[in-house]
This record gives sequence, C-alpha cells and structure tokens, in this order.
Amino acid sequence: MSVRLLLGATLLASISCSSQESCDQTPGGDGPYPTYDYCSEAAYPDFTHPRKRWDGTYPERCAGLTGEDAWACTEQLYWEVFQFDHDGRADAYRQLVPVVEAVEAAGDLDDRTLARLNLRVAQLGIAAIAESGETDLPVGQMQTLLERAHELDPDEIFIEAWLSTLLINGAIVLGQDLEPHIDHMWEMYERDPAITTPTLMAVLVGFPMETGMPDVAAEMVDRFDPEEACGDVCDWEFFRAEFGGAGMFFSSAEVYARVGNAEGARAQLELARAADHYDEWPLKSVVEDALADIDSFLAPFAARGDDEYVTDLLVTGTDAACMVCHAPLPE
Ligand code: HEC
Repeated sequence: MSVRLLLGATLLASISCSSQESCDQTPGGDGPYPTYDYCSEAAYPDFTHPRKRWDGTYPERCAGLTGEDAWACTEQLYWEVFQFDHDGRADAYRQLVPVVEAVEAAGDLDDRTLARLNLRVAQLGIAAIAESGETDLPVGQMQTLLERAHELDPDEIFIEAWLSTLLINGAIVLGQDLEPHIDHMWEMYERDPAITTPTLMAVLVGFPMETGMPDVAAEMVDRFDPEEACGDVCDWEFFRAEFGGAGMFFSSAEVYARVGNAEGARAQLELARAADHYDEWPLKSVVEDALADIDSFLAPFAARGDDEYVTDLLVTGTDAACMVCHAPLPE
C-alpha cells in the first residue's frame, strides 16, 4: 500500500468506524450490502424511501468533493438520475467522471468503496447508452472505469460480470476467439449464479445466434434454480430494485423466446406474474400480452437470421434494460 493510501485509510478510520463489525448501522437498511455495512459520517440516501434519493446535503453534481463525501454524493446522484430523472443521466455521467479522478488523485477512499465509485459512474454511462439512447457517450471510458473497479476489488463478482459484458462485446465486434470468454462466464456462474445469470443473460441473448452466446444464456437459465442460487440475498428486500424478481423472470422469458423455447418462456412469464409488486410493475401489460399470445412473443426472434443481433427486439435490451428491475415503486 502506498504512503498516500495509508494516510487516506488512517484519515478515514478517524471519521468512520474502525471496523465493520463495530457498527450496526446499515445505511441501505437492507442487510449486509457491500459498502453500506459500515458506519460513516457521510450522508447516504435513504434507500428505504421508495421515491426520493437526493437529500440536498451535497453541492450540485458533487463538485469539489473527495473521499467519503464524494462517494455518498455520487451514490445519491446515481440513484436519483438512474431511477427517477433519466434525462439527467448523460450530464451526470460527464460531471461524475472528474469527481472519480479527483478522488483517485486525493487517495482518500478505501479500495472497496473506490471500486464502487468507479462502478457507479460506469453503470450510469451504460444505463444512459442502453436505455436513454445516448450513443455519443464514450464506451471505452466506461470499460476503463470498470477495469479500475475490478483491479481495486477483484473478488467482487458483480463488477467482474459487468466488465465481462463489455469485453465479450468487444471480442465479438473484433471477431476474436470467444472460447476464453465462455470459459470465464461458466467459471463466474459456478462461483455465483445469482449475480452472474441476471447480469449476463440479457446481454448475451442479444448477440447473433452464430456467436453461440444466446445458447450460453439459455443454458444458464436452464440450470438456474432461484431458491438454490440466491444464497446471501434470499432474504433481502431489494430497495434499489423492487422489481428484481419480476424482471429476472421476464428477462429469462425473453432468453427462451429468443432460442424458440415457447414452453420455457411461458413458465418464466408465469413466474414473473407471481413475483413481488407485479401489479405495480410497469411491464405488467407486456407479460399479459405475451401470455395471451405466446407465438407472437417468439415470432420476431425467429424471423432474424443466424448472423443478426436482436438487441433491438428485446425489452431487456432497449428502453427497460435496467428499469425492468430497477424502476421505482409508483407514488
Ligand atoms: C434482472 C434484474 C436486473 C437488471 C436487468 C438490472 N439490475 Fe441492477 N440490480 C438488480 C438487483 C436485484 C440489485 C440489488 C439491489 C438492492 O440490493 O437493492 C441490483 C443492483 C445494482 C447496482 C448496485 C450494485 C452494487 O453492489 O453496488 C447497480 C449500480 C445496478 N444494479 C445497475 C444496473 C444497471 C445500470 C442496469 C442496466 C444496464 C441494471 N442494473 C440492470 C437487478 C437488476
């Protein structure tokens, strides 16, 4: 550890708890969630509040902040624009990149939180591109942020899985050998199916059939047992993804629709229907329509050739790539 980082860590220890165990405060309110499971003086948003995440504690766009305040401010801004103010995503992304740079330069945030900071900003860019159609944002910069996050917190599979979606995309575009990527995906799946499957499947299933990726996604869904796979997160309420269950099953239904498995798709749609908050879910009518006419749900995919992308046909590949799970609860 460099002297600068050591100094930063000492400083941090003096303003927050010296160990995670010594603090029973859980700012997320939702169990042992990474980076919220320790005490902090910085003001985090109240994730138990279904509608508002910005509490006005911090300067606009987090300008001039470093250390834990930069993280807490980014966290508030992230969830505000990610879930509520979609038009603000691209600007927030551009304004948060220098905040990350300032925190990196100051060296006053622990590695795990700094990894999350890099992840947040990358994810905001990905959401803006995928859902808000902001195609002029720099994907290469998002990959660099995710690589930095992975370097800082190599054991965090959530970061590793998101990074791999960008790397696989790059490998397909460049016509590179996909075998090493497939091996890596299954290795992540073995370690943590509950994070790996939902993170990868909607991306994989959009690639051309001939890449083999849609079949990998379908095999992940075949093997996935929600009861068995959920592990630590079985009992959580996902305050930041209240429609996580419905979204997960609907995304699985799109995977099966893509590979022509009508019965598999129907079963997943029924599971979505039985998931928490289904009646308040913005995609309820999409599921109802698909169940009423499953052939029409599958047909657009079958019409595409082996070498064509279908990302544009997927609800989970376009307007609701993230909001399928992360939409806020209605007023
Ligand atoms: C299949 C459902 C699903 C989809 C699709 C999804 N997420 Fe999530 N995401 C979740 C769940 C569940 C959590 C955990 C939330 C919680 O603990 O409240 C989560 C957590 C997160 C977190 C916090 C991670 C952490 O550990 O710090 C970020 C950031 C995030 N998602 C971004 C995105 C973005 C960006 C997209 C779209 C490109 C997306 N998600 C798509 C289900 C999903």
